[in-house]
Amino acid sequence: MVTNRKQEAPQEAPSAERRRIAVVPGPQSPAVMPAVQGDHALETVGLSVFYGKQAAVKSVSIGMRRKAVTAIIGPSGCGKSTLLRCFNRMNDFIPAARIEGQVLFQGQDIYARDVDPTEIRFRIGMVFQKANPFPKSIYENVAYGPKINGFRENMGEIVEKSLRRAALWDEVKDRLTSSAFALSGGQQQRLCIARALAVDPELLLMDEPASALDPIATSRIEDLIQELANEITIVIVTHNMQQAARASSMTAFMLAGDLVEYSPTKDLFTNPKDERTEAYITGRFG
Ligand SMILES: Nc1ncnc2c1ncn2[C@@H]1O[C@H](COP(=O)(O)OP(=O)(O)OP(=O)(O)O)[C@@H](O)[C@H]1O
Ligand SMILES: [Mg+2]
Repeated sequence: MVTNRKQEAPQEAPSAERRRIAVVPGPQSPAVMPAVQGDHALETVGLSVFYGKQAAVKSVSIGMRRKAVTAIIGPSGCGKSTLLRCFNRMNDFIPAARIEGQVLFQGQDIYARDVDPTEIRFRIGMVFQKANPFPKSIYENVAYGPKINGFRENMGEIVEKSLRRAALWDEVKDRLTSSAFALSGGQQQRLCIARALAVDPELLLMDEPASALDPIATSRIEDLIQELANEITIVIVTHNMQQAARASSMTAFMLAGDLVEYSPTKDLFTNPKDERTEAYITGRFG
């Protein structure tokens, strides 16, 4: 059940604690659970996000298929990043953001009172548009997550495995102690992916991960996404429709906070159900 808490919302930007309490929904709908336990790693139910009084995401209900790539597309400002940030509670860091509805991960409401958001962010990793390595060595960037999670043993193996999974190992294996800033933009982005993978997330969120990269680096990231999707669930926000078409099996099209259409990628790009989707993919707006 999704409760409408709009009227109860405080007018001023709520504190993190009040916001956390405000989003606790009612009992989970029995209708939702079977889908989550089946195909979907992550599901939202009537999810809205407000910045102050303005709704940036409007009652979105969507399921992300397990071990598949889901793309989210739509014009600038339509709410893609806002929606993505709800999936691992990154919106907690934005004081003005307030959430209604539910986000269920492996059937669990990630906004429930007893959920530790830090643990959620380990299980659901995130990679941003601009590579953001820490001012540390390549090795220390990758070892960071496991270390703060209490891992002490086999760190070298964890670092190597993560760099291999991010298709970066061969390029950096002889200079692991060099600064991460000495890497190219595309390498830095793969380092950030390796850093996210080092804690073995079940789901990886990517917000325009290749938009700052050249075509070769972009294609490496796309290949990597394909490989990773054999093991984990991936949600990617992209402005690049060719990239969505190449990389994903399902695509969501958003417009002004609404989820307009959610279909198998092939269908959405060749035979869209909604005329607004068609207008967007044919370049008539956005
Ligand atoms: N921290 C914030 N405070 C207030 N409003 C915000 C904040 N972040 C985003 N918004 C607003 O929410 C709406 C959706 O923004 P969002 O960043 O989610 O869009 P987007 O689809 O990711 O756009 P882009 O493709 O340009 O990255 C926009 O109107 C934006 O101005
Ligand atoms: Mg964005």
